Amino acid sequence: MTTISVGMLGCGTVGTGVLTLLNRATNQIAESIKVHFNVKKIAVSHPDKKRNLHWDEDVQFTGEIENVTTDPSIQIVIEVMGTVDQAYHAVCQAINHGKSVITANKELIALKGPQLTKLARQNHVDLYYEASVGGGIPILRVLSDSLITDQITGLTGIVNGTSNYVLSAMKDERSSYADSLKRAQKLGYAEANPINDLSGFDSAYKLAILSQLAFGHTINLKQLERTGIDKITLDELSGAAHWGLTIKPAIVARKKEHTLYTLVAPVAVTKQHPLANVSGVENSVLVTSTALGTTSYTGAGAGSEPTANSIMSDLLTITHHILTEQCGSSYNAPSTHISEYSLLK
Ligand code: NDP
Ligand code: HSE
Repeated sequence: MTTISVGMLGCGTVGTGVLTLLNRATNQIAESIKVHFNVKKIAVSHPDKKRNLHWDEDVQFTGEIENVTTDPSIQIVIEVMGTVDQAYHAVCQAINHGKSVITANKELIALKGPQLTKLARQNHVDLYYEASVGGGIPILRVLSDSLITDQITGLTGIVNGTSNYVLSAMKDERSSYADSLKRAQKLGYAEANPINDLSGFDSAYKLAILSQLAFGHTINLKQLERTGIDKITLDELSGAAHWGLTIKPAIVARKKEHTLYTLVAPVAVTKQHPLANVSGVENSVLVTSTALGTTSYTGAGAGSEPTANSIMSDLLTITHHILTEQCGSSYNAPSTHISEYSLLK
């Protein structure tokens, strides 16, 4: 059995989900790839806080991020604490100490992704961030793997679960904006500062990450046209419904020749549009590419376990790289299929 030591930064909605999924899959991972993940340390703001965790092994909580990012025994750091400056410093420190990093932090990747990717390459470690866009939907893998040789010409989607949840609750249940938001926060969908969700910043960060992978294009976030859902009223939603329309918090990117046109805004879609029935916390990304035409990727766009599942897939990808490096060509990698096996059980 190979032991891989993991450190975590943050143990909130997503962090607790990661522990739950790791705990659930421990035996399966041990049986299929002979790996045991030892979660050694977790840095949090309040190390003495009582936590309701589904985790059967010992773990040390610390208030010092450096205890995790500089610990020589830790091989992989999972950053699920949020913020930009502190997270950037922590991720750089982890990478400079030879650790591979997984992050769910879209703001960090949208603003500092190229620097972090370069640093990871220089240090010969991995940086993965599937959870940063689309929660549980493996959309980044699709763009950077399945569609790698196709030419992507357009992306349309809903990539903020909180906004979609709020608009869906207002439309379907006539719940007020404030109550709908409170529910989204209680369910763990909203950012620590929900203004990021409601004013379209979170969608803009995600559009920037998607555009980088889909088009190799760096969006200037300051110039991006962005409108949130914070001004939409119950009357506007029912007025739209009267005309057979649904208002959705959309992102759009279209490539025409060498120019990328982008938009983050609520849009009205007809009942027939593929985004019309994407409701609640669901996200969806429609990708238009030359060879494949339009494909759609839909699922839970936020929340503890869906997001943690994306982190688990990054964890197993990095583990596969570590094992390959350790064993050379003698390692026959079943790890990439482990999640499919678990689904088929
Ligand atoms: P939470 O607010 O639930 O959890 C944040 C965690 O980080 C807490 O455990 C907190 O400690 C810890 N923390 C915060 N600041 C610091 C710090 N300075 N030093 C050490 N620990 C710190 O956030 P989420 O789990 O919801 O989100 C985490 C990240 O994942 C964010 O980047 C978010 O954008 C991203 N994300 C979230 C999704 C979701 O559905 N919630 C989905 C996809 C991505 P303590 O517990 O002691 O307060
Ligand atoms: N706050 C984000 C959302 C979390 O609601 O979509 C997932 O990135």
